Amino acid sequence: MGKDKDFQGLGFETLAVHAGQHPDHETGALVSPIYKTSTFVFTEDRMERWLAGAPLDDEIIYTYGRSRNPTQVSLQQKIAALEHAEASLVTSSGMAAITMAVLGYCKSGDHFISAQTVYGGTFNLFDHVLKDLGIEVTFLEELNKENLDKAKRDNTKLVYFETISNPTLDIPEIEEIVEWSKENGINTVVDSTFTSPYLFRPLDWGIDTAIHSCTKYINGHGDVVAGAVVGTKEFCEGLRSKQYMDMGPVLAPDSCYLMMRGLKTLHLRMERHCENAMEFARAMKDHPKIKAVIYPGLEDDKNHERAKKYFDDFGGMVGIVIDGDQKKAQELIFKLKLCYFAVSLGDLDTLVQIPATMTHRKVPKEDREKMGIEDGLIRVSLGVENVKDIIKDFESALELI
Ligand SMILES: Cc1ncc(COP(=O)(O)O)c(C=O)c1O
Repeated sequence: MGKDKDFQGLGFETLAVHAGQHPDHETGALVSPIYKTSTFVFTEDRMERWLAGAPLDDEIIYTYGRSRNPTQVSLQQKIAALEHAEASLVTSSGMAAITMAVLGYCKSGDHFISAQTVYGGTFNLFDHVLKDLGIEVTFLEELNKENLDKAKRDNTKLVYFETISNPTLDIPEIEEIVEWSKENGINTVVDSTFTSPYLFRPLDWGIDTAIHSCTKYINGHGDVVAGAVVGTKEFCEGLRSKQYMDMGPVLAPDSCYLMMRGLKTLHLRMERHCENAMEFARAMKDHPKIKAVIYPGLEDDKNHERAKKYFDDFGGMVGIVIDGDQKKAQELIFKLKLCYFAVSLGDLDTLVQIPATMTHRKVPKEDREKMGIEDGLIRVSLGVENVKDIIKDFESALELI
């Protein structure tokens, strides 16, 4: 593999295309290959260098596929470059990335604070799995200094939140959370899945560690389940050599390859996702059968000012609330002819789902209410199709209910 170029000062789009890509010395192959191997052969020299200690970037000594693989390292360099971070670590799912990040900061007997409204799987992980392992969580409906002060304990190690909450599309006052955390010597982890590196670079705002469900915008094509932890070299390398190596959430090289390809068009895709979301939200806003439209891009949305302050655009996710319950929402969705009724988001195809019965089904109703999830809320992940077709699909379906 060739040496990296100097990426200082290059634009996001250039990094998306070039970062992490090393044309092959021998063949000149431009695209980083899929290294389909589970193990790596030691020569005497490589063995000596490996035993000598922590490898430098330029001379990673590969040993075994559960630890890392050259396709994976290329992808990690691309993600780190886009996030303005020193390093990243890709995982077999977004949930694995969240697990790794939290376990990087908390052990049994520790406590952390999380935003109340988070992805349903994250809530379950925090409220059940981590609790069973002796890591306690306090959920806060609003992460402001006053609430954080009240929730803080001597053993609090972490504050966790999402840049744009799934599914209510709330945006926290990120500066306040970071400021409070630094004052109190507590680390911050943010799930930046809905923003992707295109809209927001968490580390530039003083957040310690970001995670992504790369299943969504980062890969963008709906054919990979993956995650990433993004942060300092020390944190990511520490995780890799300990929790990652011993728990085994590695990402297969084929998936790394697909994500390398997907990331090359992140900027182009995100631009269209955002444009489509804005036009769709405006079209739905005044529809008589729709009670509310949630989209941070709308000027009267309660999160509009925060979105403008922190993000480069408003994202591709829109919430629409219909007058009625889950059944009514389902009735509408089954009348759609073009958009798919499916969980996940950030794909090229427009995907529609009902949080109360799907992504947040396992969250007790009482907690769903605290999260602000109405039964009639429909989450729409705008794809990159012609938005007029999507709007028409919804208008036709709305006429039928
Ligand atoms: C905001 C958010 N974070 C994390 C996850 C979990 O990611 P994965 O499904 O890749 O494990 C999801 C999944 O939908 C999500 O929406």
